[in-house]
Amino acid sequence: MSKKIIIIGATSGIGEELARQCVEKEYIVGGTGRRLERLESLKKELGNYFYYSQMDVTNHDESKEQLQSLIDQMGGMDIIVLNAGISNHPAASITAMEQKVIDVNVSGFIQMFGEAFQYFRKQGYGHIVGISSIASLFGSSRAAPYSASKSFISTYMQAYRQRCNNLREDITVTDVKPGFVKSEMIQGKKGLFWVGETETAVKQMIKDIEKKKSYSYVTRRWRLVAWLLKLTPNWILDRL
Ligand SMILES: NC(=O)c1ccc[n+]([C@@H]2O[C@H](COP(=O)([O-])OP(=O)(O)OC[C@H]3O[C@@H](n4cnc5c(N)ncnc54)[C@H](OP(=O)(O)O)[C@@H]3O)[C@@H](O)[C@H]2O)c1
Repeated sequence: MSKKIIIIGATSGIGEELARQCVEKEYIVGGTGRRLERLESLKKELGNYFYYSQMDVTNHDESKEQLQSLIDQMGGMDIIVLNAGISNHPAASITAMEQKVIDVNVSGFIQMFGEAFQYFRKQGYGHIVGISSIASLFGSSRAAPYSASKSFISTYMQAYRQRCNNLREDITVTDVKPGFVKSEMIQGKKGLFWVGETETAVKQMIKDIEKKKSYSYVTRRWRLVAWLLKLTPNWILDRL
């Protein structure tokens, strides 16, 4: 039987490509995002394998209802990918911008994570995939709330992995840490290196999800950066 996967944040970049490649693999795919026109155009492209629900993860009560309605439309859920994220947001002040990043990347994330966890507990199995970042491994002066938000979700997923082990729940938690990947998020940003193709990053991510890995580094060369960052003393990281 086809696997049923829901992607929170499927309207562009990594999430959109993931929807495409999962349909190619004959998964039943549910996609969400704020931009309805993008969801409608994906529906036209992907046909019967694709379901969608407009959603803003910062509207907590509505987004939980929208997730449940998407699960009902699809007749179930085996995997959820928590991909929605922002690195920046136009706002009146730095504090307001930073708050918005936390609202989406942290608060939105834990709301969806909690819903999915309860659903999978009742079901007896499931798989939660969170899209973190290599940026979770160090504080970045160019994106303080972003790197901190990604550290938060990576630590959160590790805690839940322990919880699933302790409770003997058949729920897998995969932490995906992309390096730079072509998408709207990094468009126009200068000084980036090793920018991976979206198709390649997503192909590698799907392989790791199917193997139920706890950690996934995409594209693969970013594993090296992660390894170097973990070995780098704080006095050097403090001067980056
Ligand atoms: N590209 C990179 O280099 C890179 C590196 C490391 C990690 N990542 C992570 O990868 C994930 C995907 O990013 P991307 O690079 O593919 O960027 P993207 O093209 O900007 O995609 C971001 C996705 O998140 C959704 N989203 C944003 N705010 C939302 C909200 N309030 N409610 C619901 N959905 C929301 C967007 O949908 P709507 O705008 O339609 O709501 C879109 O589908 C993010 O978590 C990002 O942090 C990216």
